[in-house]
Amino acid sequence: MRTISVKAQKNEYLVVIENDFSNLSNRIGEIFSGKIAVVYDQNTHALFSKEINKQLENFKSCEIVFPAGEESKSLQSFEKLLCFLAENKFTRADAILAVGGGVIGDLCGFVASSYMRGIKYMSCPTTLLSCVDSSIGGKTAVNLPQGKNLVGAFYAPSLVYVSLSSFDSLPKREIECGMGEIVKYAFLDCSITCEDIKKGDREEIVVKSLEIKKKVVETDEFDRGERAKLNLGHTVGHAVESLSAYAYSHGLCVAKGIAKIIEVSQKYYGFSDEKKDEMLALLNCYPFDLDIEFSSERILEKITVDKKAETDAISLVLIKDIANVEVVKLPFDKVKELF
Ligand SMILES: NC(=O)c1ccc[n+]([C@@H]2O[C@H](COP(=O)([O-])OP(=O)(O)OC[C@H]3O[C@@H](n4cnc5c(N)ncnc54)[C@H](O)[C@@H]3O)[C@@H](O)[C@H]2O)c1
Repeated sequence: MRTISVKAQKNEYLVVIENDFSNLSNRIGEIFSGKIAVVYDQNTHALFSKEINKQLENFKSCEIVFPAGEESKSLQSFEKLLCFLAENKFTRADAILAVGGGVIGDLCGFVASSYMRGIKYMSCPTTLLSCVDSSIGGKTAVNLPQGKNLVGAFYAPSLVYVSLSSFDSLPKREIECGMGEIVKYAFLDCSITCEDIKKGDREEIVVKSLEIKKKVVETDEFDRGERAKLNLGHTVGHAVESLSAYAYSHGLCVAKGIAKIIEVSQKYYGFSDEKKDEMLALLNCYPFDLDIEFSSERILEKITVDKKAETDAISLVLIKDIANVEVVKLPFDKVKELF
């Protein structure tokens, strides 16, 4: 068992990393004794509700299940969950427990931030991605038809409980999705090594990723500077994700995005081919298919199309060296030249 403590402006919370759910009841009991609304998607309900119910035997609890997938991160789900809490007479002394991936986590966090102006939010992230990327840092949101994450709040959880064995049921695509973010962390901080990635020791890579994210979000909780570094590979990655009509997982697109950024960074900083190979070797520690079948022009078009309306420059996270990345604001012409 490992624990990480994260300091947010309004509270300090524990991330508990265990092999299974057997300590969940104790961990919740340490911070809270009220009523719990357990929120699942259909898949996580089928997989984990039995174990979770056993853990919550000594608490008053009720459950609600949403369809699996991004569609559940909507204003409709937001309203449904708020009404569920109200119908079940939840008060500010009560809590929500999210059991699922980033979709359920983002939805529950946002509802917790706004129901009665804030109730306790606890989560059991059950995807590798949500564990290493969204479980800490306090970003919560739902989507609008006009775009992703357009409504949300910064709201820190009270407890994050990771059961490593819950990842056993994840399909390959979801593992790859999390690994894209984990390899990204290896570019931000040397504590994750190629050996860690190749070995695939889940506890080790989860704990190290969370430690890296903790450092960044404690420095810049409200995303005003340092936190932008977490977007490494994401600007290109999102363009590839969209051009592929979401055929590739988000994490794979982030990895493809980092590959492109290595190329762009070499042109920008002028580092040697040996340095570039060292970076590519780190990226290849996980067997990603790094080919990008879309031309630089199409990627660039995708990246610039929205931004052009607002500004004539774009911020990219570039890699000076492993564990040395920086956010660089570049005029469109320069970006075009580098791509
Ligand atoms: N708040 C943040 O800081 C932050 C950061 C990154 C991503 N996100 C958000 O997270 C979402 C993506 O998260 P995600 O990739 O976890 O998606 P997800 O929640 O949709 O989960 C992916 C799929 O895996 C299934 N699943 C969950 N746990 C499982 C398990 N243990 N075994 C088998 N299947 C399981 C789900 O039912 C779903 O079908 C996006 O909406 C994204 O915007 C938020």
